[in-house]
Amino acid sequence: MKVDKIWFNCRVATLANPAEPLAVTDNAAIAMRDGKIVALDSSERLLAAYQAERVVDLQGRLVTPGLIDCHTHLVYAGNRAHEFELRLAGANYADIANAGGGIASTLKATRAASADELLQQSLPRLDRLLAEGVTTVEVKSGYGQSLESELKQLEVARELSSHRLVSISPTLLAAHVVPPEYKADPEGYVSFVCDELIPAAIAAGKVDAIDGFCEHIAFTPPQIARIFSSAKQRGIAVKLHAAQLSNDGGVQVAAQYRALSADHLEYADDAAVAAMAASGTVAVLLPGAFYCLREQQRPPVALLRQYGVPIAVATDANPGTSPLTSPQLAMHFACTLFGLTVAEAFSGMTIHAAKALGQATEIGSLEVGKYCDLAIWDAERPAEIIYQMGFNPLYRRVWRGHEST
Ligand code: NIG
Ligand code: FE
Repeated sequence: MKVDKIWFNCRVATLANPAEPLAVTDNAAIAMRDGKIVALDSSERLLAAYQAERVVDLQGRLVTPGLIDCHTHLVYAGNRAHEFELRLAGANYADIANAGGGIASTLKATRAASADELLQQSLPRLDRLLAEGVTTVEVKSGYGQSLESELKQLEVARELSSHRLVSISPTLLAAHVVPPEYKADPEGYVSFVCDELIPAAIAAGKVDAIDGFCEHIAFTPPQIARIFSSAKQRGIAVKLHAAQLSNDGGVQVAAQYRALSADHLEYADDAAVAAMAASGTVAVLLPGAFYCLREQQRPPVALLRQYGVPIAVATDANPGTSPLTSPQLAMHFACTLFGLTVAEAFSGMTIHAAKALGQATEIGSLEVGKYCDLAIWDAERPAEIIYQMGFNPLYRRVWRGHEST
């Protein structure tokens, strides 16, 4: 049988077996046709059964699924280095937000930027992710909160994939912050989101999900419920920033609307985790934000395990709470700060991240029929990729069968 390409003589961790996600098979080979995996087998058997236009000897290197960063705010203008200094001097995130800084200050800069400026500022951040083996990135809007500015962010997010070999999953973060023109009328802003922003964003192009920020400094559970019901009426998936700074019932709203994921979760309790388990909602842990905000309350990892809730890990790349564009460091922090095992952290940026995006039948593990998105590492064991800080063992990245150097 003819295929486009074969990679052989590699050690493969497929992430396909939940009982042993990081089991490594020696002397393995992968065959690709039309961007998809068509066979996985021993090098001898696969080379005997298939003829390929190109055959690559990986000389014993480790191959894993391409990494998936399932929660980022990659498209924004400016930076918030000043707030970093304020926090070092004692201010906290909520103080800064209440004084008009935080998300509102990035909103101002992002509204003022042209689409091209946004693209030029976002591409270097995307490149950092790709350099560490990422092949799919979720990108949220949420620094516009007006029709024009949210659509501009979504358009730039989609455009990223015409400049790089990567899949982008665009999310409308409709309710991130109440914009200045609605300060006195948050309910009016929620109505605008439900009646105008969501339909316009869907009409303008691909939007994979609707997101919100449920928190005392952002939106209430009933406001989020209004937005989710508008999204669901239009057949679009939802996800939520929930229980990051307090336990306000946001997780239960996410579960009620069968959210793909609930993200952050530091303050989620037993009832919240039980609700997630019942609704099949993935827990997305964001240790970069936990670290930068010097939080003390850890997400309930033991409960998530006990209830069998899939755990994903993401960078949360954003200018305020998590200026982190290293998926390897996100996995490292998930292990050192939250107590995840290496297998949990790696599943968190592959198969469980795919679940959090609703794309687990297409990406996230190396299986016949899935897209051929690979990360090829100069490493023997997956733990080597995670335990080092600031050292990048990526050898090559493959997106839909295309190899980038
Ligand atoms: O995921 N929690 C809210 N949203 C972002 C922060 C964005 C910002 O501060 O600009 C987060 O941490
Ligand atoms: Fe976020």
